[in-house]
Amino acid sequence: MMGQMKPFSIGNVRIDPPLALAPMAEVTDTYYRSLIKELGGAGLVVSEFISAEGLTRDNARTKQMLAFSEAERPVAIQIYGGDPDRMDDAAAIVEAEGVDIVDVNMGCPVRKVVNSGAGSALLKDFDRAASVVEKIRKRVKIPLTVKVRKGWESDDVLPLLKRFEEIGVAAIAIHGRTRNEAYTGASDWSYIAQVKRELRIPVWGNGDVKNPADARRMFEQTGVDGVMIGRAALHNPFIFRDIVLGNEKPDELERRIDAMQRYLEKIDRAPQPDKWKLHKARTVIGWFSKGIAHGKDIRNGLAEITSVADVQRLLDQARERLAA
Ligand SMILES: Cc1cc2nc3c(=O)[nH]c(=O)nc-3n(C[C@H](O)[C@H](O)[C@H](O)COP(=O)(O)O)c2cc1C
Repeated sequence: MMGQMKPFSIGNVRIDPPLALAPMAEVTDTYYRSLIKELGGAGLVVSEFISAEGLTRDNARTKQMLAFSEAERPVAIQIYGGDPDRMDDAAAIVEAEGVDIVDVNMGCPVRKVVNSGAGSALLKDFDRAASVVEKIRKRVKIPLTVKVRKGWESDDVLPLLKRFEEIGVAAIAIHGRTRNEAYTGASDWSYIAQVKRELRIPVWGNGDVKNPADARRMFEQTGVDGVMIGRAALHNPFIFRDIVLGNEKPDELERRIDAMQRYLEKIDRAPQPDKWKLHKARTVIGWFSKGIAHGKDIRNGLAEITSVADVQRLLDQARERLAA
């Protein structure tokens, strides 16, 4: 057996358990991250990607995305952008908020992002990517991490990662797909293992961990320091806890309803318009109700809701049905 699950550090930040909630745009805001943290098992939570352009132009909505709560710590904020002269300013803004880690996005495959020279476009220009990272490293004191894919169209990111290591990047997260693969095919865990073998800094392995058995396999097969999970946490927010406890039991509606309730309370308290609250409730409760018995009743009910109180009633009904 190659690797096991044990705590590690990113700079001075201890990661225990060595499991992370992956950054997900329009998902991993402070409410979602707080929920995941509260349910247990995640040693690090990472924000959705935040535009360096927006931050440095003092865009109010972008700035709002920097919000986090103390209970989330350690928390990483991810920024994206293609301009080395702006990314370091953005990183300084992030650091001033008091977060634990600043992370740079070099994986986003979306055309609009890539066309502005950001996200995975940086994997096509190693010099620019290194200059982005070097300027940030000189500017901030908190640990700097980078999340990459294995390359733009083939697996050739390793020389760049070695440059990052020289510059003083504290950890790497690698999703084992190329930019051109987007989300097709499979995450290449053997490439992840190679990256881990050839770097000295900690490595997060990412891609296709769907359940606790997958997480264990990723540790064993790749030797990574930590496992980072995205999509599986959209449906089962208890996945981190399940991994820590070695719980392979099928998921239950009861605890999912508990998660839905907690999430609903968080967004209901948020200083956001009702329209936003309804949208979030519909989306997240829709996800959490997938893959479990009677979840469909909840999803059907979501089509009818017009207020947060309606959502609350839906959860109450689900609990009553469960008790009956
Ligand atoms: C809805 C969604 C949004 C995402 N947004 C981001 C993002 O903002 N930054 C980022 O680095 N990766 C983002 N990703 C990629 C994930 O962090 C992760 O690398 C990818 O989903 C593979 O891991 P998984 O198989 O565990 O989901 C996103 C993925 C999804 C599904």
